[in-house]
Amino acid sequence: MQSEVTIHDKTFVPFISAEKIQERVKELGAEINKDYLDKRPLLIAVLNGSAIFMADLLRHIHTACEIAFIRVSSYQGTESSGKLKNILGLTDDLNGRHVILVEDIIDTGDTAKYLIDEINSKNPASLRFATILFKPAALRQDIKPEYVGFEIDPAFVVGYGLDYDGLGRNLADIYVLKS
Ligand code: IMP
Repeated sequence: MQSEVTIHDKTFVPFISAEKIQERVKELGAEINKDYLDKRPLLIAVLNGSAIFMADLLRHIHTACEIAFIRVSSYQGTESSGKLKNILGLTDDLNGRHVILVEDIIDTGDTAKYLIDEINSKNPASLRFATILFKPAALRQDIKPEYVGFEIDPAFVVGYGLDYDGLGRNLADIYVLKS
């Protein structure tokens, strides 16, 4: 783990190590294996942020499952609040399926709420949410993710799929904005 990472104009310091992340992802995989045995869940990852978490999580899922990748397009690049437009790439028939949405982070919960409403309108048998990070203090929607890697304070983080203005997703550890 680097002692500091500079991305664009900002400096980030170590927050959650790659080892801790991998341990936690393994535990989440074990929970999903137990909960979804013989249910053939469909894991839907929300790009780009959840690509790394999805790939790691899948390697710990040992019950039969299917996967899909979607994007949420918005009117403004990184701002989700109130500006969500539509879901791209959701071609699977969700009727009667056990769906697990895989996200990188739940902040305000606006994206999650939008996705939950859209997917529920397609009649899945069940819908749960997996996210590597959750900022409960920033939440402004009535949602509760079932599989959470780490609950964190509402600071800005990068790494393990999360970016600051396009960079930082490839960091194996998670870093937080230096205060
Ligand atoms: P929400 O709709 O406010 O929950 O925001 C979800 C999205 O905002 C995530 O999928 C991320 O793309 C982005 N986001 C929220 N917090 C952070 C952060 O700390 N670092 C990087 N991206 C973040």
